Amino acid sequence: MNEYDSLAMRQLLQEKGFEDVENMDEADIVILETCSVRQKAEDKVFGMIGKLSARRRTTGLPVIIVAGCMAERMKQDLLKKFPQVDIIIGPGHIQYIAEKTQDVLQNFSAGKTAMSVLGFETDRAGETYHKGLYNGIKEIKAFVTVIRGCANYCSYCIVPYVRGPEQSRPYEEILTEISELMERGVKEITLLGQNINIYGKDLDPPISFPELLKKIIAIDSFDRVRFVTTHPKDTRAELIELMAGEEKLMPYLHMPFQSGSDRILKKMNRKYTREEYMKKIESFRKIYPGLSITTDIIVGFPGESEEDYEQTKDMVQKIQFDSAFIFKYSDRSGTRAAEEKEKVPESIIVRRHSELLALQNEITLKKNKAMEGQMVHVLVEGESKTNPTRLTGRTEQNKIAVFEKNNTVKAGDIIKVKVATGCSHSLYCKILK
Ligand code: 5AD
Ligand code: SF4
Repeated sequence: MNEYDSLAMRQLLQEKGFEDVENMDEADIVILETCSVRQKAEDKVFGMIGKLSARRRTTGLPVIIVAGCMAERMKQDLLKKFPQVDIIIGPGHIQYIAEKTQDVLQNFSAGKTAMSVLGFETDRAGETYHKGLYNGIKEIKAFVTVIRGCANYCSYCIVPYVRGPEQSRPYEEILTEISELMERGVKEITLLGQNINIYGKDLDPPISFPELLKKIIAIDSFDRVRFVTTHPKDTRAELIELMAGEEKLMPYLHMPFQSGSDRILKKMNRKYTREEYMKKIESFRKIYPGLSITTDIIVGFPGESEEDYEQTKDMVQKIQFDSAFIFKYSDRSGTRAAEEKEKVPESIIVRRHSELLALQNEITLKKNKAMEGQMVHVLVEGESKTNPTRLTGRTEQNKIAVFEKNNTVKAGDIIKVKVATGCSHSLYCKILK
């Protein structure tokens, strides 16, 4: 979502005549699009502001803009800590980025121009600032936000406080944006929402997420649609049935379970049990055997005992996810979990994290190895960053595929390849002559 918001801001600035530079050290204006989900992400931003401030002291530039969730979370505190920051702009206000930047530039020579632009936009009717957003970096794939914000209030999560309540974009606007992306050659769309299943409930008249998907599929001339993120309590068989029956909907479901312990799930305010989650996975796999399922897990939530953690491990073992993002619990002030007294010591969190990561890596490797010999469809994205003799892309299940360069294959093509070797993070494939 931050990537999408960054591209939206870039487009708005470009429309006003601003230009990209290759290297941040050459920039007159730097916008930091920040994340508040975990402390580590925020620490990186502090380091970056420090570096930019040092350049500013010697050369007078750059203008420093902090955007994204950290801007919303810290508000004036950020200014107190870093008086060099010129604009603090929360996720609900990015449509004003260009005019605010122009204001700052006009006043810049007159000295300090710090200003903040905060708060949520609740009335988004007619908002079309990112319509037709063009992903200038990777023209082959693009994100499209369909619902912003979240009101689930999982007890560890800062998102509802920084991104505000759920607001669906009108479907007409989404369809226009996708059509324009398609005209510009985009082959794969990833629809974004913190809790995408409840898309459209707040619209008048309401529309469901599967209904939105059907409308998107009906647009001609594009190949692939994915979406993230689903919430287990709101994901129904109807969605999986639709995915199984529609070629354009990729067989990929990202459904975070967070913890395998009912006691912890309750404290997390997740509103499902481990049994309910496992049953859903079982039925989804029955409906759609080729479905790739990935998840998010948090270890070290306050009060997580060894037994609770073992239950999480047991679920990872039983479900056999295609891959999993495993996070160390991070205290976010203002959330309910942050107030809990019984914090898990860091050394235990680190141990549980690396153990679970090792287990999932083993499972991912085993699953990738089991694919050896299979034919897969890959959307080619371009040269591999680590090996320029190879091309890379994604399979329908969203696995990374790499293969040797070939004169007839170029970025944007969808090709059929054979998996030669399943590795821990990718599939090494061969183009069949
Ligand atoms: N600490 C650690 N991980 C978190 N996540 C959200 N909040 C926290 C936190 N306070 C994780 C969840 C979520 C993913 C995007 O980030 O697993 O699904
Ligand atoms: Fe955060 Fe996701 Fe829970 Fe919403 S559903 S509060 S974004 S973890």
